Amino acid sequence: MRTVKKRRKVSIIGAGNVGATTAQKIVENGLADVVLLDIRDGVAQGKALDILEAGPLLGFDTRIRGTGRYEDIADSSVVVVTAGFSRKPGMSRDDLLTKNGEIIRDVAFNVRKFAPDSIVIAVTNPMDLMAYVLWRVTGFARERVIGMGGALDSSRFAYFLSEETRTSVSNIQSLVMGGHGDQMVPLLDFSTIAGVPVRKMVPADRLAAIVQRTRDGGAEIVHLMKDSSAYFAPAAATYSMIESILHDRHRIIPSSVFLQGEYGIKEAFVGVPVRLGNQGLEEIVELPLSEDESRQLRNSASAISEGIDALKRLFHDFSE
Ligand code: APR
Repeated sequence: MRTVKKRRKVSIIGAGNVGATTAQKIVENGLADVVLLDIRDGVAQGKALDILEAGPLLGFDTRIRGTGRYEDIADSSVVVVTAGFSRKPGMSRDDLLTKNGEIIRDVAFNVRKFAPDSIVIAVTNPMDLMAYVLWRVTGFARERVIGMGGALDSSRFAYFLSEETRTSVSNIQSLVMGGHGDQMVPLLDFSTIAGVPVRKMVPADRLAAIVQRTRDGGAEIVHLMKDSSAYFAPAAATYSMIESILHDRHRIIPSSVFLQGEYGIKEAFVGVPVRLGNQGLEEIVELPLSEDESRQLRNSASAISEGIDALKRLFHDFSE
């Protein structure tokens, strides 16, 4: 009998700005079929139909289906979790903890039940903590729960460096580790412009300003848009992770993963460079950090550990 190889399936929970934009990129680039799920009746269905109606113009045959039912995420290779609230002006990512924690706990129960073999990408903020909830509740191996943060922060850092030096973004390699929040750790020794360390190309005061702008990257956009947070670059960052996983490219992309002693950090999701392939997390790349960078990373990790303790108090044993 002829076996028909079906296209891969990616499910996206939350059909808001980040979820729908990620879905659009996947479908338009022909990467996978998509299921877009939202709690608001009709939103996912409407956006899916709108995306499909561009097919004849753009020439894609991949499919997207909007739904409110978790049954439809069955057989997904990847599940992206963007459900929940985004930051409003004056709100820190951590203010979102309780609100989004409850939503993500519920999403995680459903992912465990309906897509038990999937690789989960956490996007909802506070992302490192929501990744922890997804990992705890699904019970998946740490290789299959990965947070999106470092890819976005590194891209913002790279963009600002390209703007500062009037150099193509394709010449810039940048690396941001640590929590996806105010305590991110941009690594100057591992950031280069056409292979030249940034410190040799950009004066120290300008570099400090760029690092600060990167730290405030999310807030800068909230401040401008007022009733929405960033979504084009977050969707692109999420897409790059999915693409490395589905095409088994083994790209090294800074992502939030559950550390078990790497970088001297235990029991917390923290952004580190990881190799991503079709098994999800393939390897944590351990870089020789300077003493100052190690200290910053540990500080970032201890803020995340405090968040995890707060989650444990909120949700006790994370059971239904
Ligand atoms: N199940 C499914 N979808 C839900 C649920 C739920 N329990 N609760 C909320 N949603 C949906 C909302 O209906 C909305 O469509 O999640 C979507 C969130 O979309 P937006 O408000 O547009 O937020 P967005 O900008 O996409 O950001 C989503 O990603 O980058 C982070 O900080 C950001 O935490 C935020 C998340």
